[in-house]
Amino acid sequence: MRKYLVIGNWKMNFGRSESVTFLDEFIPIFKKRSDVEVGIAPPFTSLSICAEKLHGSSILLGAQNCHWVESGAYTGEISAGMLKELGCSFAIVGHSERRQLFGESDEGVNKRAAALLAADLTPVVCVGETLEERESGEAFKVVTRQLELGLAGISPKLISRVVIAYEPVWAIGTGKTASASEAQEVHSHIRKVISRLGGDSISKEVRILYGGSVNDKNAASLLGEKDIDGALVGGASLVAQKFASIAGFRV
Ligand code: PGA
Repeated sequence: MRKYLVIGNWKMNFGRSESVTFLDEFIPIFKKRSDVEVGIAPPFTSLSICAEKLHGSSILLGAQNCHWVESGAYTGEISAGMLKELGCSFAIVGHSERRQLFGESDEGVNKRAAALLAADLTPVVCVGETLEERESGEAFKVVTRQLELGLAGISPKLISRVVIAYEPVWAIGTGKTASASEAQEVHSHIRKVISRLGGDSISKEVRILYGGSVNDKNAASLLGEKDIDGALVGGASLVAQKFASIAGFRV
C-alpha cells in the first residue's frame, strides 16, 4: 500500500526568520494523518533552522537540489551527504525551473538521483512536458525520455525508493491545473514506464506525485485518482492554513 506524500516546495522563499514564522503557525494546525507523509523543501540556508524546529515532529525535511559529487572543487554546490548531515531525508531533482533556467539535463538528474540514493536519501525526480510539447501530442514521449534517462543504471531495488513528481510545466505557478483525469492519464503512463524499467511489483511501490498549481480546493480531487500518490506543492505551501489543509485532504 503506497502512503500518500505531500511536499511543500518553497522555492526561493522564506529565509530563516520567515521559516520560523511559517513553522510556528503550521506545526500547531498540522493534523498528522497515518496514511499521509508530509515534507517541506526550504531553501538551503533555511534547512538548519527548519531541522531544529521540526525536531521531534513527523514532518520530513528535504532540499530543492543537490550536487552528485561528495565534496571538492564545485563552487556553490551542496552534496547529498551534507544534506543528510543537516537532517534531510529527501531532495527534489530535475525541477522544471532547474531544467529551464539553469540548463540541467536528464543526465545531471540521473547523477543527482544516484548520489542521493547512495547517501540513503530519497530523490524526488520531477518530470513533465511544456505547453508546446503537450499541444503537439508529445507529453508521453517527453515524460518517457525523462524517466528513461533520469533513472538510467539505477537498480530496480533502488528505483523502488525513488519518488516521481509529474509536473506539467504549463501548470506550474500559472493557476492552471491539469484536470484530475488528465493527470491520472499521465500518472498511469509513468507507472507503465517504471514497470518496464524496474518490474511490475516495483512499479506498484513507487509513489508518483502530481505538481502544478495544487491548492486546498483541488487537492482532494487530484489525490483521489488511482495513480496519484501525493502532491508537490509550490505557491500554496507558503500559506500555513492552505498547506495544512492540503496535507490533511479528504478523498
Ligand atoms: P506551484 O508549483 O504549486 O506554485 O504551481 C509547483 C512546483 O513547482 O513544484
